[in-house]
Amino acid sequence: MDFRLVIIFFIALTTSRADDFSSIYSDDVSNKYFPENFLFGYASAAYQYEGAWDEDGKGPSVWDWDAHNTNWFPVGQNGDIGPDGYHKTDEDVGILKAQGVQAYRFSIAWSRVLPTGLIDNINQKGLDYYKDLIAKLKANNIEPLVTMHHWDIPRVLEEQGGFLNTSLIVPAFVDYATLLFKTYGNDVKYWATFNEPKQTCAGGYEWGGISPQNLHPGFGAYLCSYNLLKAHAKAYRVYDEQFRASQNGFISMVIDTPWIEPATDSALDAEAAERNLQFFYGWWANPIVNGDYPEIMKERVRERSLREGYNRSRLPSFTDEEKQELKGSYDYLTINMYTSNLATYINDVDNAVNFANDISVLLTQPADWEQTAADWFRVYPPGARRVINWIRDRFGDEKGIIVTENGYTDFGNNLQDLDTRGRYHMNYLSNINDAIHVDGVNVTGYMAWSFINDVEWYAGWIVNLGHYYVDFDSPARTRTPKESAAYYRKIATTKCLVDSCVN
Ligand code: NOJ
Repeated sequence: MDFRLVIIFFIALTTSRADDFSSIYSDDVSNKYFPENFLFGYASAAYQYEGAWDEDGKGPSVWDWDAHNTNWFPVGQNGDIGPDGYHKTDEDVGILKAQGVQAYRFSIAWSRVLPTGLIDNINQKGLDYYKDLIAKLKANNIEPLVTMHHWDIPRVLEEQGGFLNTSLIVPAFVDYATLLFKTYGNDVKYWATFNEPKQTCAGGYEWGGISPQNLHPGFGAYLCSYNLLKAHAKAYRVYDEQFRASQNGFISMVIDTPWIEPATDSALDAEAAERNLQFFYGWWANPIVNGDYPEIMKERVRERSLREGYNRSRLPSFTDEEKQELKGSYDYLTINMYTSNLATYINDVDNAVNFANDISVLLTQPADWEQTAADWFRVYPPGARRVINWIRDRFGDEKGIIVTENGYTDFGNNLQDLDTRGRYHMNYLSNINDAIHVDGVNVTGYMAWSFINDVEWYAGWIVNLGHYYVDFDSPARTRTPKESAAYYRKIATTKCLVDSCVN
């Protein structure tokens, strides 16, 4: 055989291997192109990504406080340094560019730009860091999508009650948001005021799991949400009044829920599934779309509160003026979605006073759904299509729906993840594609979580979601692509999940 032919054959074999994803394809994967202007991107968050927790004038956030005062993180695995993104803007923008994504969602650490949380103390170096990041993203044609609060309020604000202190948190957040519009608004088109407020409020102030874990069952989640929603609406109106005309951006809030479907055909389980979705997603979407909490939430919390002996609902109500301010305070809808649950109705009489019992639904996951590393997380791809349809049916899709997070958890350093993480993205995206092409839902973007392994909150880096492995033992925090990175690059650059697509 001609020696040159052998070499050509060898080159063809090795190059095609790297780009050959066919081992995970299956017949039911959509071969339709995603819409031409669909945004494929990555998402991340300041505490999980930046490190540099006390550098260049940054103040501590509630997570920094936890890292230094509790044993809630695995030893040595916190955001003090984390993946060290603060020092790696060039390298990481380079990765995003190489991945071919059109958007990058990241968050600003409130206490990096306002170390005490308040506007009278601006940290210029903190502002400069994000200015530089945004400029580099734009120079590489990557659209920034900026989250203002991803669970990390300045610790000093928390010491005064944080999200439970109406007269502190609402104006402080509005000042902070105004500063961000002023500083970055000419370059940032997509804003999100809060990330996963359900976690901030239920995890932070009701049932735990999210800093600051200042828990007041039955009251904490609701008071937090009342303040957070007011802060969101006011920030939105500031944008309307002072910045929209010149900056033309889009503002929303990043809302999460698992898909929830009835465990059986019974009417009660169907009622339970809908109720749970309303308590998780409608809790936030209904106020920003329609101006108030979902009816079912108001009814149930009030009815249970009276039964418990309180003379009014534990869910604080909005004034008419506040409802007006809230109504329509969004320019696109969002969904952070990872997993699904089955809902079973449970009798709610005489159980303890708390948010979970206000919902009174038993959530389970069938054993035949693949279990991932995080205990709450089993894989159910059809849930992606169904939750998107549910959002469209309840809240409309005229302004577009962006999947602001979706990703897969595994343990440790697994570079061979095409079969797991790669397949996960493919199957979830295939369902999202069906939601677009078969069901006609206006889904406009998808942000994978995340481009590199990071600090998965109190799970440190035991549980990972990145498309790049990070060597947390080396001072260089070296990034190495996993198989999933190659597959996601193919998706982001071709807008097609398989080898060839049709329109
Ligand atoms: C949603 C959160 O926004 C993000 O911070 C977290 O890492 C992912 N869920 C995965 O748990």
